[in-house]
Amino acid sequence: MKTLVFGDVHVPFHDKKKVDVLIKIIKDYQPDMLIDLGDSIDAACLSVYDKDHSQLTGLQKEFDIDYSFRQQIKKINPKSTKFLLECNHLTKRLDKIKKNNIFLDDLRALKQQNLMNLEGTGWLLKKELIHNDILFMHGDGGVGKSGGSIRCPVNKARQDVKDSGLSIVRGHTHVSGMEVYSMKNRFCHAVQVGTFQQFDKINYIQHKSLSNLSCSILTIDRHNNENYYTLCIFQKRGAVFHGKYYEY
Ligand SMILES: [Fe+2]
Ligand SMILES: [Fe+2]
Repeated sequence: MKTLVFGDVHVPFHDKKKVDVLIKIIKDYQPDMLIDLGDSIDAACLSVYDKDHSQLTGLQKEFDIDYSFRQQIKKINPKSTKFLLECNHLTKRLDKIKKNNIFLDDLRALKQQNLMNLEGTGWLLKKELIHNDILFMHGDGGVGKSGGSIRCPVNKARQDVKDSGLSIVRGHTHVSGMEVYSMKNRFCHAVQVGTFQQFDKINYIQHKSLSNLSCSILTIDRHNNENYYTLCIFQKRGAVFHGKYYEY
């Protein structure tokens, strides 16, 4: 059983070359399960923050780019089970709009899975997912205390491991890291998966001399009832995945 996890693509601010490498890796690895941790489109126009005119348009284009990305994946890895997790950039913003405009709430066309046409590309939308003793979540809410910090990538995942007794795989903070704990005769992993957003398009406050934003994917190979984790960090010029070099 092979699982590949990625997230925080943030169309239209994604790094296209890195996304192309992601698609090549999916093609070579042929996972049985794909998990997208969410924030697949940026949906800035739906946010409550102040924005200029250019940020008020382009939502359909974001959905179109995301759809063609999922079509490519369907073509090269048709048999995998595919899960997309709910997130703050789209799910929560849609929920807020519907809460303020109650007549929109029961419109089938405005459900996230229909706006993204997930059925067409074979993805299932889930709030969170527990599979083989691992809890996958976008990471903007979650089981532990709030306070995830981009300065300390694994802090929140570590707290969630303690609270849930499960391994935790999170996105949302756009940084990468992994820690391992021995619990009740088994290992628990606290994993933070990075982003495919171009780093200069991220407005979070980062120290000028030290930014810990990174792009990464996680694979989980399951053998003999144990999970084997590999966190693959994308570097400046390429990524090495299972011994093969992929250049951007
Ligand atoms: Fe994100
Ligand atoms: Fe997020």
